[in-house]
Amino acid sequence: MQEKTSFTSKLGFVLAAAGSAVGLGNLWRFPYLAAKYGGGTFLFIYLIVAISFGFTLMLTEIAIGRKTGMSAVNAYHALDKRFTFIGYLSALVPIIIFPYYCVIGGWVVKYLTVYLSGMAKPAAGDSYFTNFISGTSQPLLFLLIFIALTSVIVAMGVEKGVEKFSKILMPFLVILSIGIAIYVMTIPGAMNGVIYYLKPDFSKISLNAILAALGQLFYSMSLAMGIMITYGSYMKKEDDLESSVTQIEIFDTGIAFISGLIIIPAVFAFSGGDESALNSGAGLMFITLPKVFANMKMGGILGGAFFFLVFFAALTSSISLMETIVSIIKEKTGFSRITVCILVFVISLIMAIPSSLGYGLLSGIQLLGLSILDFFDFISNSLLMPIVALFTCFVVGHIVGPKLVIDEVENSGSFKRKKLYIIIIKYIAPLFLLAILISSILNTFGVISL
Ligand code: TRP
Repeated sequence: MQEKTSFTSKLGFVLAAAGSAVGLGNLWRFPYLAAKYGGGTFLFIYLIVAISFGFTLMLTEIAIGRKTGMSAVNAYHALDKRFTFIGYLSALVPIIIFPYYCVIGGWVVKYLTVYLSGMAKPAAGDSYFTNFISGTSQPLLFLLIFIALTSVIVAMGVEKGVEKFSKILMPFLVILSIGIAIYVMTIPGAMNGVIYYLKPDFSKISLNAILAALGQLFYSMSLAMGIMITYGSYMKKEDDLESSVTQIEIFDTGIAFISGLIIIPAVFAFSGGDESALNSGAGLMFITLPKVFANMKMGGILGGAFFFLVFFAALTSSISLMETIVSIIKEKTGFSRITVCILVFVISLIMAIPSSLGYGLLSGIQLLGLSILDFFDFISNSLLMPIVALFTCFVVGHIVGPKLVIDEVENSGSFKRKKLYIIIIKYIAPLFLLAILISSILNTFGVISL
């Protein structure tokens, strides 16, 4: 990127990184994974991987960015020429994620319009969501709206303005979510959900749950795709790195936690304790929340406000996803911003259409037993990101040495978890990532069954 700017304060850096990190991953993806993989069990695994792997990887990426002052492709090249491919691999991740992210973003726009037009009650119906996503023209229309909106903002280069706006709206999202969570807990039957969500059952820990938690960690914290390297390159040399990472993590995990605290107890309350309702997967947020709002006084307005805030969080994340793709292509081709934006818009739209139709017209198509959207989600989160993370740990741990990162951290403050960092980056993370990757690939191709 030519316009080398830097953040003016540590708080500015933390909020910008958190703004990119907090999006549909926290509000939509975390709760449905937690519901699917055992509630408290998943929460427990997630917290462990967040404070170990999440901390280590985010610190590493931001330090690499600040040290080299470059974006991912060039930064890996600067560390060691033989590993330039990791930079390219990490650039592939947002290209896969962005299209289907916009499909979900479209669903959010749909629900926003539903609430704005006062249709809170019908939206709470059992098959409302399924009918919507299995359609053809409606989901495509809302996908088009969301992706076009993102593209226009990125093309005009006004994303900084939008980000400022999101910094004002984000606190409202937190307050509104906490309020809704408290309300949900007063609904009869919800407490069983709270217990399910908070109490780990260690007999339910499975390799699949660990893989899902790890994939969610990468996705939610925008790791293993070069974004945090870019953010790090904008960070001031004197700002404390370790505490910045801790704050971003607390913010990101906190919002995911609250979102789960709304959705899972609500599922329990409205399904009459039928746990199979927890498996409705990707649609959980769109099926359960409307029921909550339909039961609340002023639920129509609250629902509208809630989906508006979710829409904004999703938009700021999709903007930074697209911005990443655009800046890589611009750097490599030298085309103008507008040309690249049109190109990315068209290609992403074409890539997104199958994901959108995968719940209706194309529902016969299953890839590795998954719907098309879930397939893209799996390829990026459970395959590519662990591979990028594995190589990052290997390069930093054993090729250039952790000293590079440690010096960068200590240049701007103390490094309290230094010993832990060294052990994780050198041994624990690579071993774990490798084991998980191999078993997940073998499982995918049916060699073993988890
Ligand atoms: N972390 C974002 C979320 O939780 C999604 C995301 C993944 C993202 N990669 C990104 C956002 C890159 C911005 C940039 O929804």
